[in-house]
Amino acid sequence: MKSLFIDAIWGKEVPRFPIWMMRQAGRYLPEYKKLKAEKAEGSFWKMVKSPELAAEITLQPLKRFGVDALILFSDILTPLPAMGFQIDFVPYPKFGKNALQIGIDNLKVPDDLAQRVDFVTETIKLIKKSTDVPLIGFGGSPYTLACYALKDDIDRYFANPRKLYYQDRELYDQLLSKLSLTVQQYLNLQIEAGVDAVMLFDTWAGSLSLPQYEKMSLPYVKQIMGGLKTTTKRLPKLYYSSRTTDLMQGIKKTGVDVVVADWQSPISFLKKELDEKWAICGNLDPAVLCGSVNNVRDEVNKILNSIGDYRRFVFNLGHGIYQDTPLDNVAMLIDTVKNHRLN
Ligand code: CP3
Repeated sequence: MKSLFIDAIWGKEVPRFPIWMMRQAGRYLPEYKKLKAEKAEGSFWKMVKSPELAAEITLQPLKRFGVDALILFSDILTPLPAMGFQIDFVPYPKFGKNALQIGIDNLKVPDDLAQRVDFVTETIKLIKKSTDVPLIGFGGSPYTLACYALKDDIDRYFANPRKLYYQDRELYDQLLSKLSLTVQQYLNLQIEAGVDAVMLFDTWAGSLSLPQYEKMSLPYVKQIMGGLKTTTKRLPKLYYSSRTTDLMQGIKKTGVDVVVADWQSPISFLKKELDEKWAICGNLDPAVLCGSVNNVRDEVNKILNSIGDYRRFVFNLGHGIYQDTPLDNVAMLIDTVKNHRLN
């Protein structure tokens, strides 16, 4: 497989920077909305649990825009029902009972995860049969999953994981360890099924200070990354976090290969900090894509110019694309990146 995405990550010479977008399959695409309404009765779980539909949705941004990498259509919460959670998407995630109501003791590290998420591995196999474009498998970081798993009606800003940590460190560790073991198994199943890279989403890590991050999130991320079955091939490991410019010292200890950056972190800072020892993936503010098409071109060029000749770069957004994004702006983004020749 020849791939700009994989080559750029490992610092090989590439004729142009590769591009993909966080949440590139989703509600801004008319073909996604049509499929959701006509083939899945508007249900997110139905789409995710049908390998044919999930594979078709994963491929939609490739067909429309020719992106250089695909991300599996699923969710960070997909493996959690196997632990004992009941989850609906309305479309925001809603848990029947949170981890404390269920009792952390009662949560399982599933021994039947392969069967419980067989729709995910089937989806991966279908996608791999229909394209050579690299496929990114993914999961949630234990800390970010805990933000959802501990949420209750009064917890608007995901303070509950931090509260639990200060109330009962052992219980916090028990919950996050169970999540780590589940996510690690979940990523290994995706690797066995054929994904070309894995990504961990730590969206809410930015609610932590550096010392908190090093205790409440980092150990579990390291544990997952250290336990991946990547011995047979060199499989890129990506890590996304948001509002974490101040946490870069910690992020560098995660054991990942690619830092997927929020738009608040200046490219000049990332380049200096990561110094080609890590690939940088990012970091256009997705809100730019909701403005004028000329401004899209200008803002994309600003990033391309500031990245300059940094060898390990993949263009992306700083967070998921918004659902009211005009398609012409996405086309402009992709064209601008693809027309920017290196050398
Ligand atoms: O294209 C892709 O990026 C692949 C699919 C993907 C989804 N969720 C599909 C989805 C990925 C990688 C995720 C990750 C995810 N899920 C994260 C981490 C990244 C991030 O955006 O911060 C988080 C925090 C979640 C939890 C989650 N799932 C939320 C907050 C929501 C609702 C709001 C939203 O952003 O859409 C979901 C539901 C969800 N996950 C949808 C999609 C397409 C919307 C479902 C629908 O169409 O009804």
